[in-house]
Amino acid sequence: MLIDGHGRTVNYLRISVTERCNFRCQYCMPEKPFSWVPQENLLSFEELFRFVRVAIDRGIEKIRITGGEPLLRQDLDRFIGMIHDYAPEIDLALTTNGYLLPETAPALKAAGLKRLNISIDSLKPAVAAQIAQKNVLPKVLEGIETALNLGLKVKLNMVPLRGINDGEILDLLEFARERGVRIRFIEYMENTHADASIQGLYGKEILDRIKRRYTIRKLGREGSSPAFHYEIVENGYVFGLIDPHKHDFCESCNRIRLTAEGYLIPCLYFDEAQSISRAVRGGDIDEAVEILDRVLADKPKENRWREGDENEGSDRAFYETGG
Ligand code: 5AD
Ligand code: SF4
Repeated sequence: MLIDGHGRTVNYLRISVTERCNFRCQYCMPEKPFSWVPQENLLSFEELFRFVRVAIDRGIEKIRITGGEPLLRQDLDRFIGMIHDYAPEIDLALTTNGYLLPETAPALKAAGLKRLNISIDSLKPAVAAQIAQKNVLPKVLEGIETALNLGLKVKLNMVPLRGINDGEILDLLEFARERGVRIRFIEYMENTHADASIQGLYGKEILDRIKRRYTIRKLGREGSSPAFHYEIVENGYVFGLIDPHKHDFCESCNRIRLTAEGYLIPCLYFDEAQSISRAVRGGDIDEAVEILDRVLADKPKENRWREGDENEGSDRAFYETGG
């Protein structure tokens, strides 16, 4: 079992397989970075898998593939297959912007992928295009339908932004409800890579929009999910709110992140990271495990996103860590 320096059990590994993305979302990667990580610095699937295997042996029970946009990584289904074949019981999930799902979802499902989180910030083509800086909506909608038709378990993510898509919170809630899938509203996490004019909504404001139509009942944080869940009293539909600005958000944190370059990242907010690249490339898996233990021991107690003016935001780019 993996336990961090604050007594939290860590059983969830998020692996960012590429920092590249085919969208330019204003809250994440509004402009292409000055340079991408050089190809030779990217860990291969075999190298990533060397670490994944010991991480599973040590107590990781859930793995999520993220990016950037993970579906840009060639032959991702091969990596999914490697993990699935080693440990079929692992809860194996992927977070994507959905754009490439129509062509890739069947192979991912066949390789053993169980669950998909798809980001959808608007149902209006022009607003979706404003946020992602590209006409993305038709392909994202097609991607969602493809995943559902294949029987993959789907969740949707929306980041409400003031003056941009905050009028669509109820529309997206209904869209998800009609399809029988859960939606999670995510508070915008301030970061220095985002467009400086972007402003998010706090959880309370998101709930207020929903309360204009419905009565909602608090359920709580479910298992290992970072989302706080609410039920709509009128129809029983359950949605989630991911509210990292809340003081108790980090108490049940069970995760650690690995980037495509081999950095182990203990917290999404802070810049701290330690590389396992040399260890896995040299085949010294014991050294990689020592680094993992150190990263866990030093995992911060909590992030520094806070409501109000004192919020400085994070220097960490979301496209390196996959959120
Ligand atoms: N704040 C909140 N959510 C973000 N995401 C990306 N950047 C941010 C940010 N700055 C979300 C994406 C996706 C998930 C992986 O993270 O919309 O749903
Ligand atoms: Fe790409 Fe996702 Fe970042 Fe948008 S939020 S730029 S889709 S990685």
